[in-house]
Amino acid sequence: MRRVAFVTQKGGSGKSTLAVCLAVAAREAGERVFLIDLDPLQSLSGWARTRETNDIPVVATPASKLEKVLDELAARGVTLVVIDSPGGDGAAFDAAIKAAQFCLIPARPNAFDLAAGERTLKKLKQLQRDYAFVLNQCPTSRQNARVEEGVATLEALGVLMTPLIASRVDYQEAARRGLGVTEVNPNGAAAEEIRALWASVRKRLGRKARKLAA
Ligand SMILES: Nc1ncnc2c1ncn2[C@@H]1O[C@H](COP(=O)(O)OP(=O)(O)O)[C@@H](O)[C@H]1O
Ligand SMILES: [Mg+2]
Repeated sequence: MRRVAFVTQKGGSGKSTLAVCLAVAAREAGERVFLIDLDPLQSLSGWARTRETNDIPVVATPASKLEKVLDELAARGVTLVVIDSPGGDGAAFDAAIKAAQFCLIPARPNAFDLAAGERTLKKLKQLQRDYAFVLNQCPTSRQNARVEEGVATLEALGVLMTPLIASRVDYQEAARRGLGVTEVNPNGAAAEEIRALWASVRKRLGRKARKLAA
């Protein structure tokens, strides 16, 4: 069972939005997916209540029970868990990083989000976890100086996941309606971005798994 976590100390950078959209895209690609909600605000649990099907169950759990929950899911044949965490650097932040084999750090292309990402990065390095940044809510118009700067900063910091995720209404619609962007508008640009993001994540997980097995 592969474990991906969305983490960053900065709130509002898109952890929950990207977690549900990535989970739906992975489900469509044939994974057996569970979402884990470590956030006391329970955005994912709200999303699941709005969703009409239970094809992607959401488990809300405190950090202290995370490992036990993951063991149970692994025993049930789940192939992928996507963990959503609250902002800040409390117990849930630590637990998400410890539990995941790969951490995604969403950051908007601005100095505040990027600085928060840098602090998160320190923790990830300390715990020796594989990680990458996802640049989220980028302007949809052609790449501007702010985005270029964000890309350059993240590349300098280490890892930047492709593709860049633009700011699009489909993401807000998906969150509101208990869907993924690939369900809101399967042929839209957001759907294309998220399928490409899943392809990148899957590749990354595969590479690590092979490395560990070798
Ligand atoms: N790519 C995107 N395009 C448009 N809106 C987005 C995008 N990503 C996130 N949002 C919006 O930004 C806000 C914060 O996102 P959210 O996923 O709740 O962040 P976090 O979980 O990190 O606090 C929400 O209102 C969400 O709809
Ligand atoms: Mg959230």
